[in-house]
Amino acid sequence: AVPFSSISAKSASRLADGDMPVPYRNLLTQAPVLEPYAVGRAPDGAKVHYYSVTQKAGTAKILPRLSTQILGYNGIFPGPTIDLVQGTRAVLKIRNQLPPTHPVFGYPISTSTHLHGSASLPQFDGYASDVTPVGFAKNYEYPNFQAARSLWYHDHNVHTTAKNAYSGLSAQFRLHDPTERALLPQGEFDVSLTLSDVMFAADGNLAYDDNSFSGLWGDVILVNGKPWPVMKVQRRVYRFRILNASISRSFRPTLSTGEPVHVAATDGGLMPRTQSVESWRHAGAERYEVLIDFSGYQPGQRIELRNLSNKNNIDYDFTNRIMAFDVTDQPVDTSDHTWKTIPQTLASSEVMNLRPARDTRVRKFQVKRDNDVWVIGEDSWEDIIASGFRRVIADPDLGATEIWEFENSSGGWFHPIHIHLVDFQILSRNGRAPFSYEQGPKDVVYVGEGETLRLLMKFGPHRGKYMIHCHNLPHEDHDMMTQFSVGLKPGDVDLNDPMKAAP
Ligand code: C2O
Ligand code: CU
Repeated sequence: AVPFSSISAKSASRLADGDMPVPYRNLLTQAPVLEPYAVGRAPDGAKVHYYSVTQKAGTAKILPRLSTQILGYNGIFPGPTIDLVQGTRAVLKIRNQLPPTHPVFGYPISTSTHLHGSASLPQFDGYASDVTPVGFAKNYEYPNFQAARSLWYHDHNVHTTAKNAYSGLSAQFRLHDPTERALLPQGEFDVSLTLSDVMFAADGNLAYDDNSFSGLWGDVILVNGKPWPVMKVQRRVYRFRILNASISRSFRPTLSTGEPVHVAATDGGLMPRTQSVESWRHAGAERYEVLIDFSGYQPGQRIELRNLSNKNNIDYDFTNRIMAFDVTDQPVDTSDHTWKTIPQTLASSEVMNLRPARDTRVRKFQVKRDNDVWVIGEDSWEDIIASGFRRVIADPDLGATEIWEFENSSGGWFHPIHIHLVDFQILSRNGRAPFSYEQGPKDVVYVGEGETLRLLMKFGPHRGKYMIHCHNLPHEDHDMMTQFSVGLKPGDVDLNDPMKAAP
C-alpha cells in the first residue's frame, strides 16, 4: 500500500480522443429482470423461486466506438436484477463457465457469490474461501424473510474480489414488502442507479491499477453500465435506489439545482424518518434510496446529479458529474399517491428500535495497516486461512446485542466497513450523532480518516461464522477481512460451515 498523498492521476484511461465517452450522450438503461425458471413450494409452504445464472465472458458496449470485454452474470454487464417479494425464498444456481484465466488481466478465475444485505446461512453467504472453480456450479438459497431493501449480489472470491467485481460480476437484487409498497413509488418510478468508476486501455478493454492495493480511481463514471447517462423524467416524485458498486471510489452526490433529495432508505431498508439533504457521502457498497421531486421543474430543464469532490478520492475532469435528468412535458402518471408525496414517517425496523443498556457488551477494533496489509483487529484473511478458518475477531451469543467500535488508525485512509449477516444502527460518529442520512438500518459504514464509529446490533438469526471486511475491494483482497462467529462455543462443529472448521 502507498500513502494516499503519493498517488497521482497516472491511472486515467489511455483512450484516443474520439474513443473517450462524452457526458450525457447515452440514455440511462435498466438491467433486465431475471425470471425464475421454476416456482415451487418448500415443505413448510413457503413459495420458492428457482433462478439460474451462468457466469461467462461477454462484451459490453460502453464506449462510442470500441467494445469492452467483461465477465458477467449471464455474460452481461451490469448483471440481471432479481426482484422479489418478502417471504418468497430463492434458490439461485450459479454456474461458473468463465474462462480459466481472465481474458484481460490474466489471473486464474474462481468465484464465490455473496448476496449483500441478506441474512443468509453460512454455506450460502459467499464465504470468500468457499470457491466455485471454472466448470462447477453452486446453488445458493436465500431466505428473504427480511424487510424490503435494496440488495446486490456480487463476487466475493478470495483475493480476487476486486478484479472479479470490477470486470462485471455485480448486479442488483430488490426485495419488496407491503409497507414499502404503500409508501414509495413503484414500477417505472422505482429506478435502480448503480454507480461505478472504471478506466480504459487504448483498445477499449478495462484497465486496472489499484496503486499497490490502495484503491482504483477510474476517470469514467458509469450508471447502470453507461457513461454519464441521461434519464427522461416526468414532473413528479421518483425513487432512486442508488448503489455505489465502485471497487474503491466514494461519491458525494448533489443536485445541480441545489434542491435537497429525500433519503427514505439505507442499506437495510426504510429509515424511521425521511431525511432531506443537499448531499451525502456514499461509500462503496452503501445503498441509499432517495426521493427526488421533479414537479417544480420546467419541461426541457436538465438537472444534473453531480459529485462533489471527496477528500480521499482522486478526482478527474468529469468525475464531478454522475448523470442528468431531462424533464419532459409528458403527462404525469398520477395513478397513486406517491406521485406527489414525500412521506415523512417511514418504518421502525427492529434494529433501529434497539437501545444500548448499561451492561451492553462493547468490543473495540482497530482498523489499521500491519506489515503492509490492511487489517481489522489482529488478523488478515491469510491469518484466518492459516488458522484453518478457526480464528474469529468476536464470538457473540445467538441473539446477543452488542456495541462494536471501530477506530481508524490507518493513516490517511477511509474504509467502508461491512459486517455480514446483521443490520446495525450507527450509534455515534466520533462521539457525536451520525449524519442524518445514516440514521437508518445499515450494513456498511464509512469509517473516515481518524474516525471512531460505534455500531449497535443484534446477532442472529443464524449461528455460524461470517465475514467482516473493508469494502474498498483492493483492501479486502490484501487482506482486510476477518470473521466472527455467532452462537458457537469452542469445539462446536457448525454443519452449515462451508469450511467445516470448529472454532
Ligand atoms: Cu458486498 Cu462481504 O460484501
Ligand atoms: Cu479499507
